[in-house]
Amino acid sequence: MELKKVKTAVVGCGVISEIYLKNMTSIFEIIDVVGCCDIIPERMEKRASQFNIRQMSIEEILNDKSIELVVNLTYPTAHHLVVSQCLEAGKNVYSEKPIDLSIEEGRKLVDLADKKGVLYGNAPDTFMGQAIQTARFYMDSGLIGDITSVYATLNRDAGLIAERFPFTIGPGGGIGLDVGVYYLTAILSMLGPVTDVSGFVETIRPERTHFFPNKTDFGETYRLEAENLVVGSFRFKSGVFGALHFNSNSIGNEMPQIVVFGTEGILYLPDPNLFGGDVEVILKGQTEPTVLPPTHAYTENSRGIGPAELAWALRKGRKPRTSKEMAFHGLELLLGLYKSCETKQLYRMTSTFERPAPIPRGYLGPAYGNSPAEAGLAI
Ligand SMILES: NC(=O)c1ccc[n+]([C@@H]2O[C@H](COP(=O)([O-])OP(=O)(O)OC[C@H]3O[C@@H](n4cnc5c(N)ncnc54)[C@H](O)[C@@H]3O)[C@@H](O)[C@H]2O)c1
Repeated sequence: MELKKVKTAVVGCGVISEIYLKNMTSIFEIIDVVGCCDIIPERMEKRASQFNIRQMSIEEILNDKSIELVVNLTYPTAHHLVVSQCLEAGKNVYSEKPIDLSIEEGRKLVDLADKKGVLYGNAPDTFMGQAIQTARFYMDSGLIGDITSVYATLNRDAGLIAERFPFTIGPGGGIGLDVGVYYLTAILSMLGPVTDVSGFVETIRPERTHFFPNKTDFGETYRLEAENLVVGSFRFKSGVFGALHFNSNSIGNEMPQIVVFGTEGILYLPDPNLFGGDVEVILKGQTEPTVLPPTHAYTENSRGIGPAELAWALRKGRKPRTSKEMAFHGLELLLGLYKSCETKQLYRMTSTFERPAPIPRGYLGPAYGNSPAEAGLAI
């Protein structure tokens, strides 16, 4: 049967839109990108001519009945408005992270998508890449026995990041909501929902100075509004325990890691902000880690895999793996840490979600000659 592609429009033509559009117009066959939109006309013009798609206003996108999916790539403070407009218009939506900036507003988006009966998926989609799917496969097959705890750490230099990505200064751009969410989503996708969280969230040394001499704002001061230290602990419904350490008051050589501890061994996962990377294991009795053979594909920057998987979900009549429920749970977990820090009490999670189905094995990448690339995403 002929593939009925999903007509798609992109809202937000900034930095990350380039790789999304590149992949959605070349790798993922299910997607047919028809147009793009930005409040800054030059950005929209640039992407439209680069990828041979139409420049569209948001009204044109919302009123065009043939467009089934909107991919929202605006900055975090615009997410609520753009996503709610699209959901109201009956569009299926895939949005960049974070799902929202508060628990209350995030819940409204989840409820609106349910009310409208449309699909609404959220980044990060990196958990569908080779590394996390490989780790999930070995974990589920019992390689490290019963899982007892998990730990995630990331260090960064918030000042350095702010020079390159100004949105990281404001709400939604902090180490938790902007990057910690990759770690949480990877962990949640493997281990399921959490019941209780506690921790500390702070913005340390908020008064900062721009320090790139080649930029016009050199020497100007600014106020960092986003969190730059998150330390937390949490308990999963399954009884597993978790710990987080996200610190962007450190230096630029990041040491990202997720470690899963089991009764028979320990799994070391690479940076969940990326799709690939080695997964290592130490089994009982061993002293050195060994690299596990990968079981899945998508190692390169595969941004666009989320919208593609959601488009397949639409055609197959199922829920997307990047479910709004899991994204909302991740938001509640992070903001629950804030609340725990304010109240000095354990925060009880109110939301839950179903662990997304693993991507079926069998497609290991073009090197194995078993295309099409999306075979695993369709199921
Ligand atoms: N930059 C990265 O490396 C990166 C990586 C992964 C995810 N993300 C996420 O992607 C999103 C976008 O990041 P970015 O770096 O591309 O930001 P950006 O600021 O470069 O681009 C965002 C674009 O959205 C446009 N926009 C804002 N409000 C709009 C509206 N109402 N209608 C139409 N356009 C609107 C802005 O004009 C801007 O061009 C963020 O949520 C970020 O967390 C970014």
